[in-house]
Amino acid sequence: MTPLMLSFPRNEILAARLAGQLAWECAPLTLHRFPDGETLVTLPPDLNGREVAILCSMRDPDPLALPLRFAADTARELGACRVGLIAPYLAYMRQDRRFAPGQAISARIFADFLTEAFDWFATVDPHLHRIPSLDALFRIPAVNVHAAPAIADWIAENVPDAVILGPDSESQQWVADVARRAGKPYEVLRKTRRGDYEVELTLPESSALRRGTPVVLDDIASSGRTMARAVIRLIEAGCKAPVCIVIHAVFAGDAEPAIRSAGAADIVSTDTIEHATNRITIAPALAAGVEKLQSAALDLPATGSPISGSARNEKGHGTT
Ligand code: R5P
Repeated sequence: MTPLMLSFPRNEILAARLAGQLAWECAPLTLHRFPDGETLVTLPPDLNGREVAILCSMRDPDPLALPLRFAADTARELGACRVGLIAPYLAYMRQDRRFAPGQAISARIFADFLTEAFDWFATVDPHLHRIPSLDALFRIPAVNVHAAPAIADWIAENVPDAVILGPDSESQQWVADVARRAGKPYEVLRKTRRGDYEVELTLPESSALRRGTPVVLDDIASSGRTMARAVIRLIEAGCKAPVCIVIHAVFAGDAEPAIRSAGAADIVSTDTIEHATNRITIAPALAAGVEKLQSAALDLPATGSPISGSARNEKGHGTT
């Protein structure tokens, strides 16, 4: 039976691309918000014996969390043999330690919450900083798909004189990878964050930077202040107007106008979060990751056939 991808609202474009790559069926899942703030989730009614994946990118995660849980449990009640979660953007990963006494380590708690509801998990470049890998967080088969190859191709095609810049030491991991793949030089800036909207950055001394087109690359633009400050510092230093590339286009509040008004030549993002700046698709890489999970990690044929449910039974969610 053909697996089914159920798409949360505002994930439809990527859902269609992914389902096309995987040759899966694709259908929307609907959410109705009642005046009191409760949510009603509705799925296609007959999921008997079907492999189901729910696609939900987690920008603004709190209103999505309960509906995700309702959707996963309902899919199982309606007969799905297994339910996976594809969350191209995984929220809460920056809260990966107790920065002050009494704070929640939300990355772990949120991963546990998802682990309880789903059989497998796929995401794109989660913010792994102090947590070394997805396996350290998820107790279900999980795959981390990298956007670096698609971003490197885009840079190689569109910015021939690119000098790639990471805004902080955390970005070194993906900036170095993208630069190597694109065959471009890279530098890493020094960043100090003083608050949600207060960021300071120091540029490295680099003659290559002044000759080429700076391409600022970050995994997340949330308030947009990191990107905006990088653009301001580069222009002050006499560099060309930079191109800003972000993997996850969270763009909270006035983030995008803040980056544009700082003087960015262009803002480009991948399609992990649906946004007007999406120009780089991660669908082929994500589809390959999902296929790998399906056929290798779970030792099943790629087309997914009904299984005994043993993986779920181990966790007490068996369908029998
Ligand atoms: C930080 O660790 C991340 O890699 C990004 O640099 C950060 O999340 C960007 O946040 P904002 O857009 O709020 O400056």
